Amino acid sequence: MSSVDMETIVSLCKRRGFIFQSSEIYGGAGGCWDYGPLGAELKRNVKEAWWKAMVHDRDDVVGLDASILMNPQVWVASGHVQQFSDPLVDCKSCKSRFRADHLKENKCPDCGGELTEPRMFNLMFKTFMGPVQDDAAVVYLRPETAQGIFVNFQNVMSTSRKKLPLGIAQVGKSFRNEINTGNFIFRSREFEQMEMEYFVKPGTDDHWFQHWLEQRFNWYVKLGIKKENLRLRPHAKEELAHYAKGCYDVEYLFPMGWSELEGIANRGSYDLEQHSKFSGKDLSVFEEETKERFTPYVIEPSAGVDRSVLAFLLDSYHEEVVEKEKRVVLRLHPALAPIKVAVLPLSRNEKLVPLATDVHSRIRGAFMTQYDDSQSIGRRYRRQDEVGTPYCVTVDFQSLEDKQVTIRDRDSLHQIRIPIDTLRATLMAKLAGDDFDVLPPGGSLVTGGKS
Ligand code: GAP
Repeated sequence: MSSVDMETIVSLCKRRGFIFQSSEIYGGAGGCWDYGPLGAELKRNVKEAWWKAMVHDRDDVVGLDASILMNPQVWVASGHVQQFSDPLVDCKSCKSRFRADHLKENKCPDCGGELTEPRMFNLMFKTFMGPVQDDAAVVYLRPETAQGIFVNFQNVMSTSRKKLPLGIAQVGKSFRNEINTGNFIFRSREFEQMEMEYFVKPGTDDHWFQHWLEQRFNWYVKLGIKKENLRLRPHAKEELAHYAKGCYDVEYLFPMGWSELEGIANRGSYDLEQHSKFSGKDLSVFEEETKERFTPYVIEPSAGVDRSVLAFLLDSYHEEVVEKEKRVVLRLHPALAPIKVAVLPLSRNEKLVPLATDVHSRIRGAFMTQYDDSQSIGRRYRRQDEVGTPYCVTVDFQSLEDKQVTIRDRDSLHQIRIPIDTLRATLMAKLAGDDFDVLPPGGSLVTGGKS
């Protein structure tokens, strides 16, 4: 399990500007969260890492950005209008509401009171399209991004000049009127998904299902999640969604126990067939080589952005004692770290500031940087450690003489001193994975105490 409890992460997120309660000054909005300056960077980085792995690094996957509001028939065809419901119970004494399938006993967990019989509650948010608020104008905020992909399958297939297998990837907001939210950003009512629908020829689906199970598990590991905190759990038959032929969850060992980060499902041909039936459009494909016509099967890796952010925060959190002081450090992968490099002049001395701002201007633009000259250098190091900044560049009085600066590594606390002219290229190489102790010409290792 991650070594940190949820309260510690929630408090760090608020204190350092990662995540705030939505509409906090009005007392909040149930199950909604706002990402602050650092959280917005971290979240973007998670989405970009996913997009890179799923779209940019592959020839067989393309991207899509579909609208959130769709024709309401989409949700009839997909089964959401009839089946996207959870069992809701009310406490007859204190009036609290719960998801019946999340309760361990048949009594109110808050006051022990008697519960009503469960009734099914549809999780889709409804709104109206246009000025008239009647039944004909009802539309839904999408509860998953997947359907935007299915209804565009033909558009993408015919315009991208691709053959099967073909994946269509999408990142975006989804909305679910969850009965109970909780565990910080784990279960909220507005969240983001990273979904990919991989369309394959029937008969090849088992092969591709295995492929995506491996790919998706390894994605989290490559970005720094410890293997022992991750597992792939097969769904039992009774757990399978109405459309799924098979499904695994990628689970993370959150402080509240093993919980779902991502679902990977073999959806068979369910979605395309449903949309063919309801729209009257033929969504089958013709395979030139074999002269066969068939409706593709779909393998779907569907991940939560917010849950991934939470897992990366929990897993990277580390506390240690350095020179008799507690050091909190987020060991985030450089690709995910909100700030890649902080430039820290030793002090606000008027001789140092021009050089420090020049050093900053030489590296900004290549990656996300921060210039910080407030408080003592020790405190500034600790602040950068706590938000996961991989490298701090220190400009000191000697820099005025030798035109060199010191780089400090967040994890090992090693320091190297290198010529300013080589700084940008050196930092780029290290952020891309170069060993910290590899030196550019003219560089040297700094020996001495930890900081
Ligand atoms: N298209 C399939 C689908 O939406 P899902 O298992 O319902 O499958 C996929 O959702 C992922 O979306 C989950 O693994 C989770 O990471 C994220 N997710 C679902 N509901 C969520 C919620 N209420 N809050 C935050 N993330 C959620």
